[in-house]
Amino acid sequence: MFNVSTDKFLKWKEKQLLKGSDKQSLDLLIDSVGSISKKELNLLKIKSNKTVTLEFTLDSIEFLWNKHIFSSIPIQYLTGVSYWRNLKLEVSNKVLIPRPETELIIDIVLEEFKNKDEKIIFADLGTGSGAISIALALAKPFWNGVATDIDKNAVEIALRNFSNYSNKSNLTFHYGHWWEPIKYLRGKIDLVIANPPYIPQDIYSKLSVEVKDFEPKIALLGGVDGLEHINEIVRHAPLFLKEKGCLLLEHHYDQGDKVKKLFLEYGLTSVRVLKDFSGIGRFTIGRYK
Ligand SMILES: C[S@@+](CC[C@H](N)C(=O)[O-])C[C@H]1O[C@@H](n2cnc3c(N)ncnc32)[C@H](O)[C@@H]1O
Repeated sequence: MFNVSTDKFLKWKEKQLLKGSDKQSLDLLIDSVGSISKKELNLLKIKSNKTVTLEFTLDSIEFLWNKHIFSSIPIQYLTGVSYWRNLKLEVSNKVLIPRPETELIIDIVLEEFKNKDEKIIFADLGTGSGAISIALALAKPFWNGVATDIDKNAVEIALRNFSNYSNKSNLTFHYGHWWEPIKYLRGKIDLVIANPPYIPQDIYSKLSVEVKDFEPKIALLGGVDGLEHINEIVRHAPLFLKEKGCLLLEHHYDQGDKVKKLFLEYGLTSVRVLKDFSGIGRFTIGRYK
């Protein structure tokens, strides 16, 4: 542990911010590497603490900050850690950094199933770091979940993330193309969630360096119109869902109408497009019959 005077620490912070990026990213780095939470950082100016205790030296934190500034590597990939809801997840450049808007998926599911205390089977397709499936398996230990991904590294990371939080066996991880690894669950699933790659080709080519050069293309690009994977998931959903089973997808901000149409085309009913924190139609939900 390293003690630094609060005054020196705050001046050091100001100096780092003058180099670029933003306060949120610097706070995240200090939290992940220095082990000082954002809340503690905010209180520093108010409280009269004379010293700050860091897990690493200011020089080593500055080394990572410079790397972030000069090569645009996301802080989460530099530190190998991403915070999402109340989870601290391992990430690498093989998995998407889980996004804040995706956190809402958990709230939507908990609301949708709030009157049901029975065991259900859920599937998280394209699990990445495992964020969605792990949050659900922890919130509902009596539910049984399966999570799939086409990337073996992602499956391994997701499994490690789950093992860090639970020694239960109510969530299993499978490698393969969308529904392929869970064929044995045909007609048995109560809830399917997916945040598939949905960025259209022309938008993908204009993404920021931070995203395009570091996050896995396979996690982002959804073909020419962005709907390639969504189409495949929705098309097969009726084969896998139980009667009244629920399908919930995240998609691009302007895909709501098209995804709703797809849901209806493949036999889903009670279809709704739900908004994210910014009031944008970001999720589509429906029931099978
Ligand atoms: C947008 S990321 C979502 C990751 C995670 N669910 C989240 O919300 O942070 C999409 C995920 O789908 C996976 N994926 C892409 N193509 C796939 C395919 N054909 N079959 C299964 N998973 C696929 C990617 O590897 C990636 O982890």
